[in-house]
Amino acid sequence: MLKPDAVTRVAVVGAGTIGASWTAQFLARGLTVAVTDPNPQAEAFVRAYVEKAWPALERLGLAANADPVAWRFHADPRAAVAGAEFVQENGPENADIKRMLYAEIEDALDDSAILASSTSGLIMSELQQGCRMPERFVVGHPFNPPHLIPLVEVVGGAQTAPEVIDRTMAFYHAIGKRPIRLNREVPGHLANRLQAALWREAVHAVASGLASVEDVDLAISEGPGLRWALMGPHMIFNLGGGTGGMEHFLHHLGPNIETWWRDLGTPSLTPDVAETLITGCREAAHGRSNAELAAERDRLLMALLELLQRERGTQN
Ligand SMILES: NC(=O)c1ccc[n+]([C@@H]2O[C@H](COP(=O)([O-])OP(=O)(O)OC[C@H]3O[C@@H](n4cnc5c(N)ncnc54)[C@H](O)[C@@H]3O)[C@@H](O)[C@H]2O)c1
Repeated sequence: MLKPDAVTRVAVVGAGTIGASWTAQFLARGLTVAVTDPNPQAEAFVRAYVEKAWPALERLGLAANADPVAWRFHADPRAAVAGAEFVQENGPENADIKRMLYAEIEDALDDSAILASSTSGLIMSELQQGCRMPERFVVGHPFNPPHLIPLVEVVGGAQTAPEVIDRTMAFYHAIGKRPIRLNREVPGHLANRLQAALWREAVHAVASGLASVEDVDLAISEGPGLRWALMGPHMIFNLGGGTGGMEHFLHHLGPNIETWWRDLGTPSLTPDVAETLITGCREAAHGRSNAELAAERDRLLMALLELLQRERGTQN
């Protein structure tokens, strides 16, 4: 069976925002990439994306001795996946389109190739139905942009072979990602559900007049958000218990937190709530365009990744 370090050729199927970023990531790790997308503009988009992403990858030391042009565009998806040991699928977030795509390319896959879908929240058990070899299909859900954000969520469908999940985890590890394995399928996987849970209360805070959009966001970005880039919520609370750790934390603050849980909001995104959020975001931007805000986010994200890499002595 294929070993992760034996992967030299990958295919990127669907080359929009996520597919282009995966292309940069795979190239940086010295892999040869075959890219396919039905949109004729996609080739130029990927070229421009990789060119733009490459300096950041080099700065992070993630593209040493790699070739940013070691990729080819194929209009025919079957030609793209033929010969690839690992296929990352990034087509539109639509189950019917993904199923049709799998039916189209399945016969062209190499005997031991794995197909990982970047799907943000679709269930692999549903996507792999009708596939001839469903055991090779798995979810490998990245965070945007995959070439910079380490997390990949890996989860199999009902028919995915456990060994395929192991190989997928090993492959992502080998290319410098931080894969986590989910033990069962749920809509939205894990990280998006965690974001959704927090955002639900954030929307409730705005909609109920507790605080403005800007202040709700500051309550995260200037507070717990700083810690969450370093450690997850359990380990942060474990430290909140001092030398007694999680045991003391639960004893001391657990009952209060349960009271807050019972009081959490369940807002709906009604037209009124939507208008409040849209206006609140406009005010919080203080005249800066989304392009300016995105540039600031990307600059600070790079600085943070560089710092973490230097301090932890790890790559990615
Ligand atoms: N954008 C995000 O933040 C994000 C994050 C993680 C995962 N994802 C997931 O990644 C996948 C792609 O999302 P995106 O944001 O890159 O979307 P996108 O719209 O930017 O790209 C989708 C691409 O798929 C192409 N496409 C259309 N039909 C196709 C087909 N039959 N075969 C192959 N390609 C086809 C389109 O031409 C387009 O280039 C989705 O499943 C999405 O849920 C998105």
